[in-house]
Formats: sequence, structure tokens, C-alpha cells
Amino acid sequence: MEIEKLKETARALLADGKGLLAMDESTGTANKRFAPLGIAQTEEMRRAYRDLIVTAPGLGNSISGAILYDETVRQKTRDGRPFVDALIQAGIVPGVKVDAGAKDMAAHPGEKITEGLDGLRERLTEYAGLGLRFAKWRAVITIGDGIPSDGCIAANADALARYAALCQESGLVPIVEPEVLMDGDHTLERCAEMTERVLNVVFETLKRQRVALEGMILKPNMLLPGLQCPVQNSVEEVAGATVTCFLRTVPAAVPGIAFLSGGQESELASARLNAMNVRFRGRMPWALTFSFSRAIQQPALELWRGDDKNVEAAQKALLHRAKCNSAARRGEYNG
Ligand code: 13P
Repeated sequence: MEIEKLKETARALLADGKGLLAMDESTGTANKRFAPLGIAQTEEMRRAYRDLIVTAPGLGNSISGAILYDETVRQKTRDGRPFVDALIQAGIVPGVKVDAGAKDMAAHPGEKITEGLDGLRERLTEYAGLGLRFAKWRAVITIGDGIPSDGCIAANADALARYAALCQESGLVPIVEPEVLMDGDHTLERCAEMTERVLNVVFETLKRQRVALEGMILKPNMLLPGLQCPVQNSVEEVAGATVTCFLRTVPAAVPGIAFLSGGQESELASARLNAMNVRFRGRMPWALTFSFSRAIQQPALELWRGDDKNVEAAQKALLHRAKCNSAARRGEYNG
């Protein structure tokens, strides 16, 4: 394993004042986001949308890395450059989602297990050859009546750790994403208890599978009350609970934490990240940044609506959210 190369990639992804842009929606998810806006669900429209994102002028000033989906890795911009090359030219490190999605877990009603380990070594070798420098794998944990179960947490942690070890073998930095969903009516306290339990098992398993913590990035959920919980906590309470949980569970050897947005409203996601970076400045051993998809893209997608004449307005909205989150990463966001 070339640990120095992994550390260098992680450093680039965690560069000061920058964060990651997740644009790795699978075909199914991209189509699901297009449908309510009346955007045609075709390969060309997905390409055109990704073109708009990657060619947004100055995106590299706030975005350090972009996570692609396999289809996009093989597509080109309107002016004929492979998306991977266009990102590199924009000063953005290209990466790719390599899991095959979360499927219903046998004997575990209401729970999911992420698939995609078979043939992963060969796929990673191909991606490394195409110029990709990091990868992402998302595990999904649901809070509900009697769940998550130990079986679901252990199986997902195992898959994350085996994926991470394979990535490092191929010279790719693994983004390890155990997402505790915000669906449900659970409280912030229950989310905190479950996220702490999940992260403890994930790090135990990563160490058992000999993953170099220095050469990975954690992509967790923020600690939030369920969307249907009658008590919605303040930005300060969310920030306090989230960093307190990480200080207990995430080893200092991990260079950075980059949040998913998970369906939070865009401004709230920025405000919460900002509050953490203000309140815990100088007291966190890792960089604390973003790896948002919806919280960066959604306003732009709603403006674009699949129409060429809206590209400029959509790019402006995208750059605005990217800049807001870049400010939040520095603790300098003020709405
Ligand atoms: P959201 O920020 O929309 O949650 O997406 C992040 C991501 O990459 C999910 O895997």
C-alpha cells in the first residue's frame, strides 16, 4: 500500500476552505430527481446536467473533489473532454461511487445491506487507470422500532471495511459513508445513541481489516432529530451533539470528516456545518467539511429544469451553494 500517495490525495480533498461535491447519483436516483421537475429521464439529459456542473466557472475555488457515477466517468463534456479530464483541468480531484446500492437485507425486515464487493478489485484497478483518485461506498442504517439491529450494523461495517482495504490496495482513498437516515420520528438523542453505536463498530471493523486510518475520509450524517420528530433542535444543539459524538468515536488518525446532507434543507446544512467549525475551532483533530449532493445541487437543478437557456442561472446557484459551504467549512458563513 502506498500510504504517502493516499495521504496526499486525502490532503488535497481536505484542502483549506474546500469540500466535496457528490454528483454520483445512480441512474435511478438521477431519474427520480428529474421526474418531478419534468426533465426527460435520458442518458443525454443526465450528461447535459453533469456538464453544467463540471463546467461551472470557478467551481474549483470551493470544491476540492467530485464524486462521479460510473455512467458519468465514461461520458464527455459538450466540447468533447472526458468528465474526468475536465474536473482535473478545473483543479478538482475526481472520484467515483463504487457500491452497487443498498438492498433489503435477508432476515432483517426494514433494514438494508449495501452490495458491490464481487469484482470490486478489478473495477478499482480500472478506475485508477482512468485517473480517479478516490472512491465512495454508502451504507444505510435506519432507525425504527427495534432497529438498527446488531446484525445489520455488523454486516454493513464489514462491507465498508473490505471495500476500504481494497481501495487502499489500488491507491484510491476510500470515503467511508455509514449513513444513519433522518427518516422517522426519533429524537436527536436517539440519533446520537445510534450513530455512536454505528461509528464504534465501523472503526473497530476498519482496524480489524487493516485499513490505514490516515488514508481514508469518513462521510457521516449530522446528528439530527428524525424529520417527523415534533422537537426540531436548534443549530447549536445539532452542532454540539454531532461533534461530541465524533470526539468519542472517530480516531484522531483520520484526517477528515466530510458530511453527507441527507435531505436537509440547503441553508440549514451550511448553518450547522458552520456552527460546528465556529464552536469547536482548534479542538478537533480532523478537518470538518462537506460532501453534499442535494444541499449543493438541488437549487441549481430546480432552476435548470432541463432547458439550455437556464444553464447560466443554474450554474450561478450551484456556485453560490458551493461558496456558502466553503465559508461554513472555515466557520465564516453568515446566511
Ligand atoms: P446527500 O448530500 O444528498 O445526502 O448525498 C450525499 C451522498 O453522497 C449520498 O451517498
